[in-house]
Amino acid sequence: MSIPQSMNADRSVSLNLNVRGMGLSATLDINERCRQLQQQNHTVYKLGLGQSPFPVPAPVVEALRVAAPEKDYLPVLGLPALREAVAEFHCRQDQIPFHPDGVIIGPGSKELMFLVQLAYYGQIIVPSPCWVSYLPQARVIGRTDKIIPKSFGNGWRLTAEQLTESFERDNDDYRPRLLVLNYPNNPSGQTHTADELKEIAEVARRFRAIVLSDEIYGPLHHQGQHVSIARFYPEGTIVSSGLSKWCGAGGWRLGTFYFPPDLYWLRDAMAAVASETYTSVSAPIQHAAVHAFHTDVRIERYLWHARRILAALGSQCAKILIQAGLRVHRPVGAFYLYVDFSPLRRQLASRGITDGRRLTTRLLEETGVAILPAVCFARPPEELAARLAYVDFDGAQALAASENIPLHEPLPSDFTQHRCERVLVGVQRVAEWVTARN
Ligand SMILES: Cc1ncc(COP(=O)(O)O)c(C=O)c1O
Repeated sequence: MSIPQSMNADRSVSLNLNVRGMGLSATLDINERCRQLQQQNHTVYKLGLGQSPFPVPAPVVEALRVAAPEKDYLPVLGLPALREAVAEFHCRQDQIPFHPDGVIIGPGSKELMFLVQLAYYGQIIVPSPCWVSYLPQARVIGRTDKIIPKSFGNGWRLTAEQLTESFERDNDDYRPRLLVLNYPNNPSGQTHTADELKEIAEVARRFRAIVLSDEIYGPLHHQGQHVSIARFYPEGTIVSSGLSKWCGAGGWRLGTFYFPPDLYWLRDAMAAVASETYTSVSAPIQHAAVHAFHTDVRIERYLWHARRILAALGSQCAKILIQAGLRVHRPVGAFYLYVDFSPLRRQLASRGITDGRRLTTRLLEETGVAILPAVCFARPPEELAARLAYVDFDGAQALAASENIPLHEPLPSDFTQHRCERVLVGVQRVAEWVTARN
C-alpha cells in the first residue's frame, strides 16, 4: 500500500524544531558536490574539504594492524594507556603538567564538543570566522550563542579588548560562559602569540569563563611553536585535540579533551552522557593511538616534514592570491587560507557576483575550483570571502620527496610546483578568474 503524499508531508513537522531545516555540514556537502562533478568527468580542484593530505604515519598503521583483534568494550573515559600517552604528549608538546585523569577519549573531537555543549548549561561564545560546526551544534542543543567578529586588520585574531567589551556588555559578569578559541585557526591559518593568549586568559579568569581551546592544529604550527592558553589559564581551560589533523587520521575518529581538576565535574557529566550513547571509542583505534601519541622519532620527523611542506605551499598560495589583488594573510599553521575578495567587489559585482555563496558557486562552475564561502564560517552572507584548503595533493609522495632533503634546509623553490601541482594550478585558476575581464 502506498503512503499518501500528505502523510509524508505531515511527518516532517514532528522534527525537533532545533534540527528542522538543517542540511549536511558544509564541508561534507562540498565533498559530495565535488564527487558528483568528477563523476561527470569534470576536472575538480578540491580545496573545500579540510582533510589532511598526509597518510597516517607507518608505525601507527602497523600498530592498528596488530591491534585488530582487540574486541572488548573499553572504559568510557578511554583506554588507560592511551589517556597516559595523551597526557604525556601534551606535557612534552605544551610544557604543561597534564594528568592522565583529566583526559577523555571520544569518537572525534567534534563529538566531544557536542557533548560538552550538551552537558554545560552556558552561553557559547565564538569568535568568527570560525570552524563550521560550533554554532550548528549549539543550535541543535538549544544553547544561546554569541559571535564576536574578528577582522582582517587584526589578523583574524580575537583581542583581549574585544573579549572584555563583549563580556562587560552582558551586565552579568559571572554568567556561565564557554569561550571557544581555535588556534592555529580554521579557516584563517593564523594563530595567537603567547602574549595575546596571556591577555585573553586574564579576561577569561576575571569573568570565570570556561575556555574550550580547540588546538587540533597545534602540532601543525608551521614552525612547531604552538603555545596553549592552558599555560596561562590552567584551571579554566579544556584542551581539545585528536588524531585527525596532525596524524592524518580523520577517518579513524579519535578525539581527545583534557580537563583540569577544577573541571572534573564537567568531564564526569560528559562521561555519563557518553556511557549512554557511544559507550567508548573503537578498541583497535585506541590501542593504535597509543603509538601515535608516544610520537617516536619517526613520527617526529613525519611532523617536521609535513610542517615544512605546508609552510612552503601556504606561502606560495598566499603570494599568488595577493598578486591577483586579493587580501590574505600568509598562514602560520594548519592548511587554510581565508581569502578576502572584497578589494575586487566592483569588478565581481559587474559579473553578477555580490555574495560569498554566489562567488564560490560561480568559481566552481567556471573553473572547477571548490572552496567554501564565508557564510559557512559564521560570517554575513554578503561577505565576499572564502576558505581555501590547500590540501589537494598526494601527501605521501610529497613526504617521500621531502625526506630526501635535510630538515635544516629549506625546500627548493620548485618543490611545491612539482609535488603540490594541483593546489597551485587551482589557486592560479582562482587568480586568473578573479582578474578576468567581463
Ligand atoms: C577547528 C576544528 N576543530 C575540530 C574539528 C573536528 O575534528 P575531529 O572531529 O575529526 O576530531 C575540525 C575538523 O575539521 C576542525 O577543523
